[in-house]
Amino acid sequence: MNPINPAPAFRELRDKAGAKLRRLKDGKTVIMVGAATCGRAAGALDVLRAFRDEVKKHNLDCPVIEVGCLGHCYAEPLVIIGKPGWPPVAYGYVNPVIAERLVNEFILGDNPCPEFVLAALAPNDLLPSFQDFPRARYERKIILQNCGLIDPSDINDSIANGGYSALAKALALPPQKIIAEIQKSGLRGRGGAGFPAGQKWQACRDAQGTPKYLICNADEGDPGAFVDRALLESDPHGIIEGMLIAGYAAGADRGYIYVRAEYPLAVERLQIALRQAEDYHLIGSHILGTDYSLEITLFQGSGAFVCGEETALIASLAGQPGLPRYRPPYPAVKGLFGQPTVVNNVKTLAYVPRIMANGADWFRGIGAADSPGTAVFALAGKIVNTGMVEVPMGTTLRRIIYDVGSGIPKGKKFKAVQIGGPSGGCLPESALDLPVDFDSLQNAGAIMGSGGMVVCDEDDCMVEMARYFLEFTRRESCGKCTFCRLGTRQMLEILTDFTLGQGKLADLAILEKLAGEVGAGSLCALGRTAPNPILTTLRYFRNEYEEHITLGRCPALMCRHLIAYYILPDKCERSCDACVGACTVEAISPDKKRIKVIDPEKCVKCGTCLPACPPQYNAIVKLSPPSEVPCK
Ligand SMILES: Cc1cc2nc3c(=O)[nH]c(=O)nc-3n(C[C@H](O)[C@H](O)[C@H](O)COP(=O)(O)O)c2cc1C
Ligand code: SF4
Ligand code: SF4
Repeated sequence: MNPINPAPAFRELRDKAGAKLRRLKDGKTVIMVGAATCGRAAGALDVLRAFRDEVKKHNLDCPVIEVGCLGHCYAEPLVIIGKPGWPPVAYGYVNPVIAERLVNEFILGDNPCPEFVLAALAPNDLLPSFQDFPRARYERKIILQNCGLIDPSDINDSIANGGYSALAKALALPPQKIIAEIQKSGLRGRGGAGFPAGQKWQACRDAQGTPKYLICNADEGDPGAFVDRALLESDPHGIIEGMLIAGYAAGADRGYIYVRAEYPLAVERLQIALRQAEDYHLIGSHILGTDYSLEITLFQGSGAFVCGEETALIASLAGQPGLPRYRPPYPAVKGLFGQPTVVNNVKTLAYVPRIMANGADWFRGIGAADSPGTAVFALAGKIVNTGMVEVPMGTTLRRIIYDVGSGIPKGKKFKAVQIGGPSGGCLPESALDLPVDFDSLQNAGAIMGSGGMVVCDEDDCMVEMARYFLEFTRRESCGKCTFCRLGTRQMLEILTDFTLGQGKLADLAILEKLAGEVGAGSLCALGRTAPNPILTTLRYFRNEYEEHITLGRCPALMCRHLIAYYILPDKCERSCDACVGACTVEAISPDKKRIKVIDPEKCVKCGTCLPACPPQYNAIVKLSPPSEVPCK
């Protein structure tokens, strides 16, 4: 099918892109502001404005560029300054005042302002570099390689950094060879189930019927997961390139990106990237002068979690209600509009160009035997270095949490890690040496899911954690099957009773039975995996359930109905009134000796008083059960 060599067309494109980029940047200082959603939430747009104003004020020829997420989200807003003669330097926790100083002292002067430096991007004699961070020993960036370092809205920057070269290489091969390479690499889908990507493409290729479709699943609805969003916002061309190669291999005639409308920045950057790729004839007809053609359409989903399930996604894309259907037939055989369809996750597609560029053996050499490659996680919760990490599969949870994530803040104790969002599970301290790969996680009761990793410390209640995730799945259940529709509701009621101190020991057995039945009887993986947070917390933290039920006590002091705030009379400072002013419902007042007392009838347990009490007095405590509060 592909007698035309795509290499000359690509070379021409690469030269053109290089020339354009050189005109824009060569010999100049470049300021890159991390302005993905995470950066923006931390104030990156104010920083961007401050840089632009300052650059304009001094009439500098210095491009100020919005880039994506470097992964160090804990230090946002992040800025990288590339100044000729210096290694590129990353600055963390930047604000408009710091931005002004950086322009005046580093760009106009020669002081790199080391006090604001997070790290230089390359080893050097002057400044610490990211390679000096302990996490550098354990991270291995493959799909995050370009994130935060290229301009996602400039295809030239992408091409200059190797973008689309793997496509040129792939289009010179017959599709079957690409499938064989991906199969040999052992690439497993990163959308949750870990199905071999090459096998799915082969099934689509072999299936009867044209046209065939390729869908990039960018629905990402798991609470705590944000890697797909970050990839789309940081390196959209990498995903488009993955789609083009996958579509060519699977024999697809048309591609779709199904992205949730709640990701407006990802949508915006994808629209720009698609337009640019079209202008460069990288999508559309006769790509790079070959016989291969693929149109790619962006489709915005309305943000229902269940629409991430591939059959529901396909229904939604076809304009029908987003409800899952029974499989088989699998979408690879009968998918969109009844035609053979490959559905792949964003991360899965992001690996494809890397594998084509470096070869299957290279990929197989990274990670675990049955789970080659890297695992990418969105680290969140009680962890010092929140953000995105990419480590070889098989890295232990302990390494990820303590060496890459720098452990638990405020000297608190680790309690559990929730992996895989609502379909995943909570693993305890005894699982910290577990290697992270598809199969090990599944054996422990969790799953890789879409890459959410939420760390819990001693202040987090595992019963509440299970209730929180179940509340999510109950709300998101499409209601098509009874087990999922009613079972999640009933399990949620039982869990809620526990957190209110109204549970019975017999409810534990009912909960376990229901969890088994909902898991076994539901049509799609939403219902089938909804019990996972319950089953893992019951397996590893049963004592917490029992304390809630038999003692009315929440050991983590988290469940509001099972705690009371109390002011220790011998610690309260009579001349101090800080908590009285802090309490918004006027529940605190002085007694005759000016010792402050909380009225339990008025207290709404908001906890505002706790941090208001100066640390030298530390007079306010939480007690559970509330009956622990001493009588007057
Ligand atoms: C309720 C539910 C939600 C899902 N959400 C997503 C999602 O947001 N993104 C995704 O890629 N896969 C999601 N999946 C998995 C998809 O059904 C499908 O397995 C995946 O897109 C296949 O791509 P992969 O083989 O590259 O992993 C979800 C599955 C279920 C049951
Ligand atoms: S398991 Fe739940 S979400 Fe899935 S089809 Fe059944 S009711 Fe809908
Ligand atoms: S803030 Fe602390 S020390 Fe001050 S009045 Fe309240 S309880 Fe007493």
